Amino acid sequence: MIHTVTPEMHQFLHELPKCEHHVHLEGTLGPELLFPLAARNNIQLPDHFPKTVDDLQYKYDNFKDLQDFLDLYYVGMSVLITEDDFFELAWAYFRKAHADGLHHAETFFDPQGHLERGIDMETVVKGFRKACDKAEAELGITTKLIMCLLRHLPAQDGLDTIALAKPYYEQGLIHGLGLDSSEKPFPPELFKECYEHMAKHHPEVLLTAHAGEEGGPDYIHNSLDLLKVTRIDHGVNSIKDPQLIKRLADNQTMLSLCPMSNLKLRVVQDIAELPIKEWIEAGVPFSINSDDPAYFGGYILDNYLAVQSKFGLDVPTWKLIAQNGVKGSHISQSRKDELLQRIEEVCSKYIF
Ligand code: ADE
Ligand code: ZN
Repeated sequence: MIHTVTPEMHQFLHELPKCEHHVHLEGTLGPELLFPLAARNNIQLPDHFPKTVDDLQYKYDNFKDLQDFLDLYYVGMSVLITEDDFFELAWAYFRKAHADGLHHAETFFDPQGHLERGIDMETVVKGFRKACDKAEAELGITTKLIMCLLRHLPAQDGLDTIALAKPYYEQGLIHGLGLDSSEKPFPPELFKECYEHMAKHHPEVLLTAHAGEEGGPDYIHNSLDLLKVTRIDHGVNSIKDPQLIKRLADNQTMLSLCPMSNLKLRVVQDIAELPIKEWIEAGVPFSINSDDPAYFGGYILDNYLAVQSKFGLDVPTWKLIAQNGVKGSHISQSRKDELLQRIEEVCSKYIF
C-alpha cells in the first residue's frame, strides 16, 4: 500500500531536525563527480567499468546484492587521490544533507580502501576533517568521523590500520570504529581483537558494526557480545529473533536503518517489509539513514519520505524516531538537549 505524502507532511519531514548515523563518505560519490575526478587525476578506470554517466547510473539502479554493489564501490573510490578530493566529496555531502534538514552527522570512511592504493591516512583524514570543520562552522552541523574496518581483509590488517590511525584518535579527530564490507563470509568474531584493542586504548571511542544486513541475528548477538558495540548498523534481521528484539529494547541499543539501501541491495523486496512497526511496538530505537546515497538514489530526506510513503506514520511517531536518533548520537548531553528542544519546537507546529 502506498500512503500519499501530503505537502504538509513533506514540509514537516524536511523541517524535522535529523541526525544521520550511517553514511559512508565514499558512498556519496556520484557519477557527476566520479568521472571528472578520474579525468583530473588521470585514473584509468577498468575496461569493464561503465563509460558514461547514464551507463553508470544504470548499474546503480540494478544491483543484485551487497557484493555486486561493493565491487563497483571499491573501483569508484579509486578516483579519490588528493586531500582536496576527499574534502570536496565530504563537503558536497554536508551541503546536500544540510539542505535536507540534517543537524548531526556521524560519517563512516574506509581508510583501507585508500591505503591499499598508496594514499596515506593523513591525506584522507585531513581532507574529510576539513569538510567536517567547515560543516560545523558554516552549516551548524555537528559531525563525527567513524573509521570502518573492511571485513573482507584480515584482522591483522585492521590492527595495523588502527595503529596508523592512533594519532587521529588521540587528537579527537576520529571518534568511532565500525566494521563494513561483505558481511556473509566474514562474521564479527573475526575482529574481536581489533575491538578489544580499541576499547582498551581509546575507551571514549564509539564502537559500532554492520550486522544483520545479510547476516542473521547471530551476527547482531556476536557484535554485542564479542565486539561490545553500543550500536548496530542495519540490524534488519533482528526481527527474526524475539529474544534479540527484547535485548535491543531493554538496552536501548539503536539500529541505524537504511531503507533505500535495503531496497536497492535486495535485503527486502519492498520498503514496506522493513520491521519498523514491530520495532516501534517493542521499543527498539532506530534512526533512518542513507548509507551510500549516491549509489542508492536518495539522501536522508528521501529515505524519510520513502518510509512515510510506505508506512504513513503520524507526527508523534516521527517525533519519537527523531528523539531516539538524538539520544543514540555520540554527542554531549548539552548538544542532545539543544536538538531535542528543536524537535519539540518543530513538532509543536504540526501537532494540533
Ligand atoms: N560499505 C558501504 N556500504 C556498505 C553496506 N551497506 N554494507 C556493508 N558495507 C558497506
Ligand atoms: Zn553501510
